[in-house]
Amino acid sequence: MCGIVGYVGKQKASAILVEGLKRLEYRGYDSAGVALMESGSINVTKKTGRVENVAASVYKNNSPAHLGISHTRWATHGGVTDTNAHPHLSSDGKIALVHNGVIENYESLRRFLEGEGCAFLSQTDTEVFCNLIAYNYRELPEPEPGAERLIEAVRQSARMVEGTYGIAVICTDCPEDIVGARKGSPLCLGVGHGENMIASDVSAFVGRTQNVVYLDDGQIVHLNAEDFSITTTGSEAVSPVIDTIDWKIEEAELGRFTHYMEKEIFEQPVALENAMRGRFSDDESTAKFGGLTLDSYQWRQTDRLLFCACGTAWHACMTAKYLIERYARIPVEVEYASEFRYRNTPMDKNTVVFVISQSGETLDTLEALREAQRKGFRVLGITNGVGSTIARETDGGIYQHAGPEIGVASTKAFTSQILITGMIALHLGRMRDLSFSDGRDMVRAFRSLPGLISQVLDQADKIKVIAEKYADYADMLFLGRLSMFPIALEGALKLKEISYIHAEGYPAAEMKHGPIALINEQCPSVVLSPHGETLKKVLSNIQETRARKGKVIAITSAGKDFPEDAADDVIHIPQAHDCVMPILATIPLQLFAYYIACVRGCDVDKPRNLAKSVTVE
Ligand code: G6P
Repeated sequence: MCGIVGYVGKQKASAILVEGLKRLEYRGYDSAGVALMESGSINVTKKTGRVENVAASVYKNNSPAHLGISHTRWATHGGVTDTNAHPHLSSDGKIALVHNGVIENYESLRRFLEGEGCAFLSQTDTEVFCNLIAYNYRELPEPEPGAERLIEAVRQSARMVEGTYGIAVICTDCPEDIVGARKGSPLCLGVGHGENMIASDVSAFVGRTQNVVYLDDGQIVHLNAEDFSITTTGSEAVSPVIDTIDWKIEEAELGRFTHYMEKEIFEQPVALENAMRGRFSDDESTAKFGGLTLDSYQWRQTDRLLFCACGTAWHACMTAKYLIERYARIPVEVEYASEFRYRNTPMDKNTVVFVISQSGETLDTLEALREAQRKGFRVLGITNGVGSTIARETDGGIYQHAGPEIGVASTKAFTSQILITGMIALHLGRMRDLSFSDGRDMVRAFRSLPGLISQVLDQADKIKVIAEKYADYADMLFLGRLSMFPIALEGALKLKEISYIHAEGYPAAEMKHGPIALINEQCPSVVLSPHGETLKKVLSNIQETRARKGKVIAITSAGKDFPEDAADDVIHIPQAHDCVMPILATIPLQLFAYYIACVRGCDVDKPRNLAKSVTVE
């Protein structure tokens, strides 16, 4: 959803900005641009396409500028054109702005500014915001032209716009300064030695500094090479808290892998190990979490849990429902965050709300969290985004510690979310019905996960061969029962996101109530067929499919109980405790989608139209 980066220091700004943009490209990649402060004037280079596109021109110019702002775009207002790309310049040429978010009242502001003589080049809300700042800069009675006046102009404009923004602004009157502000879109400050940076996300500057200040909504930051200060839109001074980023730049490098998605799939044994570290009791019978802010008495009073999220994280919520209801026997409701915000969801007074978000910045999830808090509910978060807005606004929660996830299609974050919800099921179950020995069995199962996942990953070559056979189909069904149903949904989502094959997930038995009409030799099904009570039923569903000439790829943990000739292709996963089966079944689906997308020549890490972190409604 757009990434912004600003740099001021002693180095050449262009290379640092381009490098930062490349690291933020997961946020949007339909166009990119850089504005550099050169001898008191602003030089803008912007183009449609990937950051690489604009990088070539920026490098060619070889500007000596040591201050600049930059942007990678995911279009909201105005088509994908060079003109609509950011940075935007004010019509007097004095001010340049990059923006992540949506200005909702831009049409009325535009009319007002046109009345004041402003000429607009683009269709964007951002150009309106830029000219509004320029207008206020001109009109303010004081202070003198310069950084202080720019800060006041941003403050004044922030009060006039409705909507969301994370912005970075520069002005020719103060060529050593950048001003940033946020409301609803993420923004953080990288505090360096003799240089400072501003960005949508720490990954833009993590190679240069590990020191970060996460800005809050309603804050305005001013930075130059040596210093920074933060105030609010209400003109109050803010004492900054400098945090340390807990991961290193190497973790965000591709290494021996071709794509980030591939790398992140193979990182799952480690990511899950990290999610478990220090989180089991000494007697290995339950899970413990420092960040869950309810005591055991309060948990026992909790009658209901409500889980909210978007996309893949919503599938993690659905899996949580199966795990928590089974092991902790607490009713769990699952809502799309975007729906919860506007629905009158009946809320029992003893409900605890969980939000799940890899990035910790998804706006719909954030707004659902705020709405639940407004209603007086305690909201806990599960997020991979350390210091993210969701992490800061929840009343407690659990960090995933999965390391940076860069591929747009979520993989290691998803399995780590399921693991954490399984551990929550154990934690709550042990306060209720679950016996000591059942608790120990679950801990043993969780602990065995990294090894079991590695066994599945060892089959990557075999899965690749199977994937290649199915790469040319236009439609596919994913079927699974009970806790395999949300995994079927996730398998279908992975495939459609990165390969553009139409795919649907269904509870396996539900197939005969409609989707079976789609089955023919052109529509294969991926059927999750774990060992246990539903195996026979799922085998029947497979027969129903094959009787209609539908090809079947089965993923099974049933070993010899799954006849090899029951499906066209069979992928075996280890037989383990039911509480970890959703995770084990996910891995082949990720690899299957990944290899199909590769065969089809798709841009795996940056699928069309998508962005990893969606910070607009
Ligand atoms: C976007 C991404 C999805 C992701 C969803 C929620 O739609 O494309 O991959 O699952 O946002 O993201 P979050 O960061 O909140 O988990």
